Amino acid sequence: MSYETILVETIGAVTRITLNRPQALNALNSAVLRELIAAFRAFDADATQRCAILTGSEKAFAAGADIKEMQGQSFADMYGGNFFYGYEAVTATRKPWIAAVSGFALGGGCELAMMADFIIAGDNAKFGQPEIKLAVTPGMGGSQRLTRAIGKAKAMEMCLTGRMMGAVEAEAAGLVARVVPAAELQAEALKSAEAVAAMAPLAAMAAKEMVNAAFETTLAQGINFERRLFHGLFGSADQKEGMAAFVEKRPGVWSGQ
Ligand code: HXC
Repeated sequence: MSYETILVETIGAVTRITLNRPQALNALNSAVLRELIAAFRAFDADATQRCAILTGSEKAFAAGADIKEMQGQSFADMYGGNFFYGYEAVTATRKPWIAAVSGFALGGGCELAMMADFIIAGDNAKFGQPEIKLAVTPGMGGSQRLTRAIGKAKAMEMCLTGRMMGAVEAEAAGLVARVVPAAELQAEALKSAEAVAAMAPLAAMAAKEMVNAAFETTLAQGINFERRLFHGLFGSADQKEGMAAFVEKRPGVWSGQ
């Protein structure tokens, strides 16, 4: 499939999706929405692909939802049309994916990065929910995911003042997994994605599912859910292979079964 607002490449078992509207700092409009959903669905359906990276340019991961597209919309357009509802589809991706963030990740851009399984940030990354300055609020999950990631104090401050948070603060606060020099971001993200892609795919999918369950369940339910998935992996050929490979002191070779 050909895309106009994103670039999609496959690098071995890794799919890299690059937001590509440089003239608008990768602002997220409806075309980006449609294409991202299609690209993530295609990645999930492709048996040769094991992990994805979502990234932007060096200056901007994404500077938010497209303000020029939203500017003239009425309440009926937004509420009636359930504006940007479809973005949740990227969180339905069952295989792991990483956001590689350089430069601005603001508003919808920050919200999109937070939909990733984890974020690797360049040391030039700036995260923020500046919607309040436009007399609106986060609308793609920012008030919820940011609060869960960094706690009420910082999330509330960011949503109320619109201030940006740099990469070092974002790592200390728990928003990003790792900060790397901006010039090494793509190489580091690829290394991480290749490490994930090298794991037995059913185990990777299960690990993602159980960590995400921590946000939706009580502790007891979450632990039970984890245990059932853990038990279930003993029905996979790759569990037999993984443990035999350890005992025989050789690398495992996964069938994905
Ligand atoms: C549309 C945008 C844009 C955006 C930047 N551009 N952000 N266009 N929507 N969100 C455009 C500018 O209009 C400009 O185009 C070009 O990109 C370069 O931007 P500049 O402002 O000239 O760059 P700079 O001076 O370096 O400033 C960078 C910036 C600033 C600090 C990131 O662009 C900025 O504040 N952007 C808006 C950030 C924001 O408020 N995001 C939240 C949006 S609301 P032209 O053609 O004019 O030169 C949101 C809601 C989410 O995300 C919920 C959805 C449901």
